[in-house]
Amino acid sequence: MNNLSTAPSRERVKSDPQSVAAYRRRKPAKHRAEMALVARTMPVLPAGERVLDAPCGAGRLSLWMGRQGWRVSATDLGAAAVEHTRALMAEKGFDAEVVEGDIFHMPWADRHFRAVVCFRLLHHFADADTRRALVTELARVSSEHVLISYLTPWSLTGVRRWLRWRLGGRRHRQNHTRQAELVADMATQGFTLVRDASQGGCFHALRLAHFARTPRK
Ligand SMILES: C[S@@+](CC[C@H](N)C(=O)[O-])C[C@H]1O[C@@H](n2cnc3c(N)ncnc32)[C@H](O)[C@@H]1O
Repeated sequence: MNNLSTAPSRERVKSDPQSVAAYRRRKPAKHRAEMALVARTMPVLPAGERVLDAPCGAGRLSLWMGRQGWRVSATDLGAAAVEHTRALMAEKGFDAEVVEGDIFHMPWADRHFRAVVCFRLLHHFADADTRRALVTELARVSSEHVLISYLTPWSLTGVRRWLRWRLGGRRHRQNHTRQAELVADMATQGFTLVRDASQGGCFHALRLAHFARTPRK
């Protein structure tokens, strides 16, 4: 666990039913492309393995993980997100553990999960120390795999946003991370990069990096 104070701004936390509903209404093509990215990057694991969806938001990854036959735990700081995911998993017949809490201070023991997925959160944090604290906590609770999505600056979207900011426009509120920064932070936790998948060529900024614990020699 880390001691960094990381109070996220309230509008990013899905604590009310309206913000959860708004997230569920995102464009179907975008949703499908993001879920396809998760499906092709996630390692193949046997049924019954413990996996964590953090943060779960409206529960779309939890549901997908449940359908793979895994034992799903999920967490989110937003009370409405947690309630929604809990109800969704129960409705679909999955016995999932859904916990309200801060991802920077999770309640599980070290190496509790075989795989941990953190989708669409890292880019909310502008500060590199906060991003490092997040990946450290994700790595702590994983025995083998950690998947983290991030926004690369090396995409047409990333370059366009950077240029607009440098030319006097507003700075985009989503933050970009270099792959090298993520690889270095995960290396300090004993993980190496297995694969870094893109949502779609060099146009999209969203990437999903799969790290695995480096075997002890
Ligand atoms: C953009 S949503 C992504 C949700 C989900 N991973 C998905 O892709 O559908 C980000 C989520 O992070 C949650 N969140 C923000 N800060 C958090 C924190 N410190 N701990 C746990 N959850 C947090 C928000 O409540 C929100 O549900």
